[in-house]
Amino acid sequence: MTAPHSTTTNLRIDPVAGHIGADVSGLDLTQPLPPATVAALKAALLTHKVLFFHNQHLDHATHLAFARQMGEPTAADPHEPGIEPQYPQILTVDPRVDEHRYGKDFEERFRRCRRHYLSGWHIDNSATVNPPAASILRADVVPAYGGDTHWTNLVAAYEGLSPPLRQLSDGLWAQHQFLAGFHLSPHDPQAAPILAVINARPHVAEHPVVRLIGETGQKALFLSPSTTSHIVGLTAAESTHLLDLLYEQLARDEYRVRLRWRPGTVAIWDNRTTAHLAALDHAHLDVDRRLYRITLAGDVPISANGSPSRALTGQPFTGPDSVGNRPTQP
Ligand SMILES: [Fe+2]
Repeated sequence: MTAPHSTTTNLRIDPVAGHIGADVSGLDLTQPLPPATVAALKAALLTHKVLFFHNQHLDHATHLAFARQMGEPTAADPHEPGIEPQYPQILTVDPRVDEHRYGKDFEERFRRCRRHYLSGWHIDNSATVNPPAASILRADVVPAYGGDTHWTNLVAAYEGLSPPLRQLSDGLWAQHQFLAGFHLSPHDPQAAPILAVINARPHVAEHPVVRLIGETGQKALFLSPSTTSHIVGLTAAESTHLLDLLYEQLARDEYRVRLRWRPGTVAIWDNRTTAHLAALDHAHLDVDRRLYRITLAGDVPISANGSPSRALTGQPFTGPDSVGNRPTQP
């Protein structure tokens, strides 16, 4: 292994929006980073929630090596295979892979099934009892335009609520389940393949609506429109109305940042304090878009008063051994 190079003095972190996001420069992520640099990146992630690195030309091996410096890589996904057998931690994010598995025009059909206009926003794997602490996404092939990703700062969204709504939210719990934000019927032959994949390994968890972050003492509005099904203990109508309000709050423009991907762009985000959205404005352009993702294992969330999340079904999501045998990637 190459000796760590001294990059800490070259490290620059420049915020790119008022509440979230920073560009990081002065690093070569293909090389091992000194401990002080890793510590600086982790601190910057707590502050800025998502960090962007540009012109980094990672391959699978160096992507995984960087991830291992930032945390403990999980399996690629609770349901989707990784790049088997060599990189079971790496998920391929490519609509053509999805179309191969779930049928033509998969994304457009999926979009039409959204329960809410904001259902595309999500926290990665929030239906697991210990959603990943962070995700690291790298761009390989991206279109010249279209396919941007948005992130929102869930701490700012929480702090932007009025005091009475913060107090109400502090005591609420929500159920999370994969695809809860979409109307998918098992009787629909187009929905059946993905429902079969989800139901073969179901994950359902109850998380606090307001998640306390231990390192900072911050509180985050921990809701994932794609996977939150309802607020526990409310009537269905009450839950729908309150989630509508809270979803609009978390997706407000001022809490957001938007990234245009270039080949070699890498983004790492705190998956405890952000939600993100793929713009899906490229599906009609018939262009290639392929990114690779590694998630880092997360803790079980705790509520404002210290109560932990509960798994209603499903095992904790950790390394590749935690997901058992899955179909291989097409
Ligand atoms: Fe995601």
